Amino acid sequence: MTGPIVILGIFVADTTYRADRLPKIGETILGHRFTLGPGGKGSNQSVAAARAGGDVHFIARLGRDTFADLAFATWADAGVHPAVIQVEREATGAACIFVEEETGDNAIIVCPGAAGGITPSDIDTKTDLIRRAGVFVTQLEQPVDAAMRGLEIARDGGAVTILNPAPAATLPDAIFPLCDFVTPNESEAELLTGVPVSDLPSARRAAEALLEKGVGAALLTLGGNGALLVTRDGEIHVPAFLAERVVETTGAGDAFNGGFAVALSEGMSGEDAVRFGCAVAGLSVTRAGAAASMPARAEIDALLARS
Ligand code: RIB
Ligand code: NA
Repeated sequence: MTGPIVILGIFVADTTYRADRLPKIGETILGHRFTLGPGGKGSNQSVAAARAGGDVHFIARLGRDTFADLAFATWADAGVHPAVIQVEREATGAACIFVEEETGDNAIIVCPGAAGGITPSDIDTKTDLIRRAGVFVTQLEQPVDAAMRGLEIARDGGAVTILNPAPAATLPDAIFPLCDFVTPNESEAELLTGVPVSDLPSARRAAEALLEKGVGAALLTLGGNGALLVTRDGEIHVPAFLAERVVETTGAGDAFNGGFAVALSEGMSGEDAVRFGCAVAGLSVTRAGAAASMPARAEIDALLARS
């Protein structure tokens, strides 16, 4: 695959609260630690891919405020090339993330802010860049019509297309045939297919339902069970790289998708690319933060070499 990795998505500032447990409705609890850091699935995937060695261009819509400054600083540090639309008088969005200390699991509300206003016409202004892409990746935090336009242009330009259908949403039928890979987690796969996913056999059934919808390949991320790649030619299950201590799972899916995109752009086989994505995800959960937890290429190579 020649050409850069082009990612369309959102950037938001993550405000993260760590506590012994998540609060119940109507309850106030004391937390241990607050952090403000870079988030948004598309931006996290871009940072993951750039740190893993990819040539990454990120398309998003931003305000002109201190959160936007955090975005540019984050991308400069990771080596992501921004291809952003910046607007006045709309705020860059934020996410409120609760992390449970013991497990590292989270609950998130994300408000995309300015990023949520991106339109298909905005995507059209990035046509030249998208047409040059070797790999194109998008998610569902920005409106689906914008994601779809991106996928159409990328497909037309000959890129490998990846849709990470997160957060879970019902999708128009026409989107599936535009995707070489669709990469849901268990709950996203269930929403898309109606098949509850709890183990490998049910993951396989959901994957087959996605193939029937017209995707090239279904690549399900299964948390501690790794990932399952199903194509019309067969399937590959890759176990997770289980961390000794999980600090925070926020962005683990983004780590996987960013890593997988890099591996594909380097021409790795499907199995090696899934393994590479699993390694990036496995490293990311050992650290706090979303974009802040993405590993460097040397760490990924070291993990792959010793396992
Ligand atoms: O996938 C993790 C991301 O989802 C967080 O960074 C948060 O911003 C939400 O968008
Ligand atoms: Na993390």
